[in-house]
Formats: sequence, structure tokens, C-alpha cells
Amino acid sequence: MNTAPRLKVLAGKKLVDLAPAELQAALSAAEHVLVDVGTGDARTAYRQAVAHPEWVVIGVDPAWQRMTETAVRAARKPMKGGAPNLILVNAAIESVPAPLHGVADQVTVLMPWGKLLRGVVLGEPDVLSGLRAVAKAGAPLELSIGTSIWRDPVPLEIRDLPELTPETVESTGLADRLAALGWAVADVRLVPHTELETISSSWARRLGSGATETVLRLRAIAVDPGEAVRAEQRAAEAGEQAAGEPEREA
Ligand SMILES: C[S@@+](CC[C@H](N)C(=O)[O-])C[C@H]1O[C@@H](n2cnc3c(N)ncnc32)[C@H](O)[C@@H]1O
Repeated sequence: MNTAPRLKVLAGKKLVDLAPAELQAALSAAEHVLVDVGTGDARTAYRQAVAHPEWVVIGVDPAWQRMTETAVRAARKPMKGGAPNLILVNAAIESVPAPLHGVADQVTVLMPWGKLLRGVVLGEPDVLSGLRAVAKAGAPLELSIGTSIWRDPVPLEIRDLPELTPETVESTGLADRLAALGWAVADVRLVPHTELETISSSWARRLGSGATETVLRLRAIAVDPGEAVRAEQRAAEAGEQAAGEPEREA
């Protein structure tokens, strides 16, 4: 993975370097660290930060200009809507800066687009490794994708992407690619748009109340890379062995 050495964060409308010691101080005081990858306008990350002042919420997105409005709001005094526990980082996940490695108790990817969408749908190693790099062992990755992106008219840039469903996560080999890179898939389901409020994504909200969006939600757990594959192999071997054993007489 091509790792950016420095942490570029938003301070109001400007990009500044965040000293590793300053980041470390914030992280060590936090009860929980949430990293929201592809945070967009960062409104979801902001809402999480305000709702959980004891957490540190880190939004990551290479399109940093879209985060400025939220960064300005977050920089106010807490009484006036500020969120000192929100850190907005200018970075692409495939080159996520080293100071963010191993910090997350929870990783979210909500309504991804562009390289991030391709990476999670196709199981591209640079994106999956970047997501795994920010996570602590045992941290969940929660991925939500609105399935309407696969309905006509399908945007040109995603026409080659297979539609993700609970079945295709297995049949396209995505679950195996995730496992090989340290993400053990725990649950995949389609949920109705009425659960979008829980996701609380700005993008989902933009769909409006009349939308009939169905969202694919995938949850995976950070394990040692390859461990999920080895566990599957052990389970398969145990199954084969049990099937091959002669039945014992009662
Ligand atoms: C549709 S927006 C969703 C924003 C937000 N999560 C929401 O739900 O409102 C997708 C975001 O993914 C970001 N993105 C695309 N490629 C990325 C990458 N390689 N690393 C991190 N973010 C990326 C885009 O810049 C964009 O802001």
C-alpha cells in the first residue's frame, strides 16, 4: 500500500498538518474511534461526533473541498454546534496516512462512489487493504450501498460492476477477497429505505422520503489477513473428515 506520510486535516476552510502527537492525545482520550471512509460532505460524521462527544470521529475523503462547510461548523464552540472530536482528513483510503493505521474501533463506508465503490464491489486489494489498515483487530466494517445505482439508467462508469446482493457477495468471490485481506464477512442483507434514517447518510437523505431505495448492508470483522480463509478451510476440512468417518454404533 502506498501510504501518505502526513496527516492533512481541515481546520475550518484550510488544510493543515496534524501533528502525530496531537492525534495520539485525542485518540488515547477517546472511548471509541469511528472512521467514516468516503465521508463526502461529512455531515454524517459530524452528527455522530455531536451525538457521541466521548468518541473521536474521523472522516476520510480525498475531495476535501466538500468537507469545508462541516469543518467550519465543527470548529465553533461546542455550545454553538462545534464538534472538537471530529477530525476531517484529506486522503484516499488506498493511500491512507500512517498515523491512521490501527486506530478504528469501527469503520463505515456509506454510499461509496468512484474508486471507493469500485474497490469495495470488486474487492480491489488497495482499497480493502486501506480499509483494513485503519481498523483495530475485531473492528467491524459496515458498508452500505444503495442498489438503485444498478437500475436504469446505470451510470457509464459503473456499467461493468456486478450488482452486489447477498448471493453475489459469495458468487463473485468478493467474500473470499475480503477474507484474504483481513475482513471476515459476518452478515450481508438487503434493507428497505426506511432503515436509511439509521444510516443517517446525507446521500441517503437526499433521496427523499418518497424514495424506494433498497440498501445492501455488508458487515465484516477485521481479522488477521488470511485468517478468515484459514478458518473456512479448517471448517471445510472438519466437515469432510466428519463426513468420511464411519458411523459409530450406538
Ligand atoms: C456518494 S458520496 C457519499 C458521501 C457520504 N458517505 C454520504 O453518505 O453522504 C461518495 C464519496 O466517496 C468518496 N471517495 C471516492 N473514492 C474514494 C477513495 N478512494 N477514498 C476515500 N473516499 C473516496 C468521494 O470523494 C465521495 O465523497
